[in-house]
Amino acid sequence: MADRYCVIGNPVAHSKSPEIHAAFARDCGIDLTYGTCLAPLDGFAATVRALAAQGFSGANVTVPFKLEAAQLCDVLSARATAAGAVNTLVFRDGRIEGDNTDGAGLVADIVRNAGVPLHGKRVLLLGAGGAARGVMLPLLAEGPRELVIANRTRATAEALAARFADAGAVRASGFEELDGTFDVIVNATSASLADSVPPVPPQAFSPDTLALDMMYGKQPTVFMEFAAQNGARVRDGLGMLVEQAAEAFYVWRGVRPATQGILRQLRTQ
Ligand code: ATR
Repeated sequence: MADRYCVIGNPVAHSKSPEIHAAFARDCGIDLTYGTCLAPLDGFAATVRALAAQGFSGANVTVPFKLEAAQLCDVLSARATAAGAVNTLVFRDGRIEGDNTDGAGLVADIVRNAGVPLHGKRVLLLGAGGAARGVMLPLLAEGPRELVIANRTRATAEALAARFADAGAVRASGFEELDGTFDVIVNATSASLADSVPPVPPQAFSPDTLALDMMYGKQPTVFMEFAAQNGARVRDGLGMLVEQAAEAFYVWRGVRPATQGILRQLRTQ
């Protein structure tokens, strides 16, 4: 029987992960199945244990279970520990292993797909919630000149910067104190869901700025529109989605799938 994987979430029906992993498996000549698994809001742990008992090889975890997944695992990777969240499970030797590929996906999309190296650059991270924390370690591992975290609630940004102080040049800032332009600005807030833009000063953007919103949709987000109006190059979160999936595929199979074909396919949908 083919190895079995799935994405666990609630809701999960509209996940693009089955299509992405099917493309990876086809391109790599690997026989596997990948479906969706709707877990009850109060039944995530039982769902995971049932999948492991049924002989599944692994699973992805999405909203709202990434934090709970980190609590459930028997062992966590360094990047999952740093993120405090898990998006990739491996069922191996009777144990549940947890990893987090979101940050690696973001970095791959910025560095490889957008062609913007992060080493020595000024990077601004908007937001200090779960999405921001999930990408801190891989961002800092690239060696930016500085990573500035700006958040509506300043204390949360301070706490996030303090937590990662040993991993690189990171500091918190209020929006109003942001000075100069940034090479890369990543929107890790959930403001786009409410059609709202974090109050970044327009001077933070320049024609050399890459502005990336982790969100994606049929239309550019309001943050992307604001960044473009201020001259920046813009990107949505679709590339990050495909790249985090590719990293999960690598964790499971030890093979790095090509991502450009499926990314093009999703963009034309
Ligand atoms: P997620 O897991 O998506 O990061 P979260 O942990 O609830 O969700 O964090 C949401 C982030 O978006 C926070 O940084 C939040 O700012 P606060 O800490 O001040 O709440 C930020 N956010 C949400 N709506 C926002 C808005 N309209 N403008 C600016 N920031 C917003």
